[in-house]
Amino acid sequence: MKALILSGGHGTRLRPLTHTSAKQLIPIANKPNLFYAIEDVVNAGVRDVGFIVGHTKEEVKAAVGDGSRWGIRATFIEQDAPRGLAHAVLIAEKFIGKEPFVMYLGDNILKGGINDFVRNFEESDAAASIMLCKVGEPQRFGVAEVDAHGRVLSLEEKPKKPKSDLALVGIYLFRHDIFGAAKKIKPSWRNELEITDAISYLVKHGKKVTTDVVRGWWKDTGKPEDILDANRLALEMIEPRIAGTVEEGVEMVGRVAIGAGTVVRKGSSIHGPAIIGAGCVIGPNAFIGPFTSIGDNSRLSNVEIENSVVIGDSAIECSRRIRDSLIGKNVHISSADSNVPKCTKLVLGEHSRISI
Ligand code: G1P
Repeated sequence: MKALILSGGHGTRLRPLTHTSAKQLIPIANKPNLFYAIEDVVNAGVRDVGFIVGHTKEEVKAAVGDGSRWGIRATFIEQDAPRGLAHAVLIAEKFIGKEPFVMYLGDNILKGGINDFVRNFEESDAAASIMLCKVGEPQRFGVAEVDAHGRVLSLEEKPKKPKSDLALVGIYLFRHDIFGAAKKIKPSWRNELEITDAISYLVKHGKKVTTDVVRGWWKDTGKPEDILDANRLALEMIEPRIAGTVEEGVEMVGRVAIGAGTVVRKGSSIHGPAIIGAGCVIGPNAFIGPFTSIGDNSRLSNVEIENSVVIGDSAIECSRRIRDSLIGKNVHISSADSNVPKCTKLVLGEHSRISI
């Protein structure tokens, strides 16, 4: 079994963060989203991993390297523009050869891994297997209609009137038949070769397509609020550990991880679940969490921040309470004279400078 991890695309719904960076590298609980995908395929026993890369290829290549830190062989396959998931499959045909493979979208994150999903597929003779998850807004995703035995009846990409609330998770298992199907389909209204259409083609031509349902949780981190959700869920699973220095009198509650070289100054309080990276200075008077991730080399003082992600290399000193915010790298936030409102909601890209 090989793996194809998709790490291209423009990430338009995450601008301005993705003007300069790959959406797959946005950290969830201080770890790039992409690394969760790599760990899942590695845990399922895959060692040969192809990465589809686009205009952010240099950044993705720098993050993944040769793959040796996970014990994988990394191959990078360039897609000239986001032409769809089925197009990504087609340009990987030489890399995949005749082997079955897992295709994993690098902006998806799943609790519980893919081991059972892969094992069931390997034991079956299905041409493809898809993973489904009940969601509140199926029109944002590919949607499957299945019968009582879990057999796929129909698939539709982002339907206006969804036939079910079962979204297609961005993790797929394929045998060689998918290449023939991807060659037959036509681009969709968004001018992409949709993987949903290629799988539909398999179903219509009598090929066996099985389904599996997500047991834990799943997130597609396409929008800022999805990143905060995924961050919240992933923080529930972090290992509490203190590798830095916590001064006396700091209040720490719940599941908290603090990286090496970080100092938490007196008068501060950290409410888990929360993670603080390496080389940070927290405090004096910083109130962090719950559900907050602070990336490496950040300085926070005289601030209250909750349910937020600070990607890193940022300085925040602010009398207002910051909540539900996603803050890019190299951001400086400082206080200016002001009164109401008490809560500030932010999506800030790299190198932002604001005064609030
Ligand atoms: C893609 C697929 C869609 C699937 C989703 C999962 O959507 O086309 O069927 O439900 O990933 O993340 P996209 O992110 O390209 O809009």
